[in-house]
Amino acid sequence: MIAPHGGKLIHRTADAQTENQLRDESKSLRALTLTGRELNDLALIANGACSPLTGFMTREDYQPVVDSMRLANGLPWSIPVVLAVGREEAPTPGSRAALYDGEGELRGVIDVEDVFEYDKAREASNVYRTQEEKHPGVAALYERKDVLVGGPVWVLARERNPESLTPTETRAEFERRGWQTIVGFQTRNPVHRAHEYIQKCALEIVDGLLLHPLVGETKGDDIPADVRMRCYRTLLENYYPADRVLLSTMPAAMRYAGPREAIFHAMIRKNYGCTHFIVGRDHAGVGSYYGTYDAQKLFEEFDAAELGITPLKFENSFYCKRCQQMGSQKTCSHDPEFHVSLSGTKVREMLRAGELPPPEFSRPEVAQILIEASREKASA
Ligand code: ADX
Repeated sequence: MIAPHGGKLIHRTADAQTENQLRDESKSLRALTLTGRELNDLALIANGACSPLTGFMTREDYQPVVDSMRLANGLPWSIPVVLAVGREEAPTPGSRAALYDGEGELRGVIDVEDVFEYDKAREASNVYRTQEEKHPGVAALYERKDVLVGGPVWVLARERNPESLTPTETRAEFERRGWQTIVGFQTRNPVHRAHEYIQKCALEIVDGLLLHPLVGETKGDDIPADVRMRCYRTLLENYYPADRVLLSTMPAAMRYAGPREAIFHAMIRKNYGCTHFIVGRDHAGVGSYYGTYDAQKLFEEFDAAELGITPLKFENSFYCKRCQQMGSQKTCSHDPEFHVSLSGTKVREMLRAGELPPPEFSRPEVAQILIEASREKASA
């Protein structure tokens, strides 16, 4: 089994006894309310997906992560994992603060080690490669409160969702299935034919696939996670060998940080036990902020051993009517006029109009679910 990032899996979920203590203690602590994104990060820290992080970043980690994609201890890490508060509500270093969600429910505590100012423009330029507010990740960064609170957390256990396995659980499942090589697949979309093709190319050379959709916050026009889950289940039932695929959700929020987020996604999947990770065209990209293969190139800036997980890089894939199969520039010599590729906007338009996208683009069973979801949304 592949070692977690930093050598061991972190667990920051409180056991039942600690939980009772924390609930009592929380009443006398400074209360901080987390945003949806921060709650997503809290879930990743709690279950070990963000190992070796034990909490939200202090300045000691934050600054080198922003400037040179490394934690203070030198390990690769490309995305800040931070908790922001208003200046007036900032707790004192050395104190413990209680963490609440928007509904006022206690979700955990933080042992405050550091409270610090940060430079949003610098984070935008370095992490997102742009300072434009139109970029959804940059917009979220600019909306963040003004100071960051760093330190280890303890998180209260949540109700178990059997389709949301922790890194310990995916690792146990891989072992049970006898898989030694596992490819992780990140997605924020329904799985279309191009996704299916690259997953199956990978499956030809590894033991198993972890289909690992991101289900934290995404931008408004992305397909909601519950609809996507229906698509994934249907697709797997109809087109994949059940004993070679594990479907489980990954609770991170989407940053749309392209190359930097690809590294982050890979480190997280390593913690879940994947040995390989698919990086296709414009991974985690949005609009035209990143070059098609920038995410793949960024992996080359690290030593393979320090990343640990192996990226499997795929070219832009499509169905070719002349080849009568899926392929890419690497395997198909035909003119682009024979290639079926549709923009996300075009597909959304078709679905809204109740039209099935061509089967060369999307499996009809998947498209049907998307049409129904689009109708439900319109009538809601
Ligand atoms: S992402 O934001 O999660 O990267 P998406 O769900 O569309 O978006 O992509 C999931 C993975 O499939 C990413 O690695 C992406 O690069 C890859 N991918 C998506 N579409 C294609 C395509 N047509 N050809 C090759 N790779 C693709």
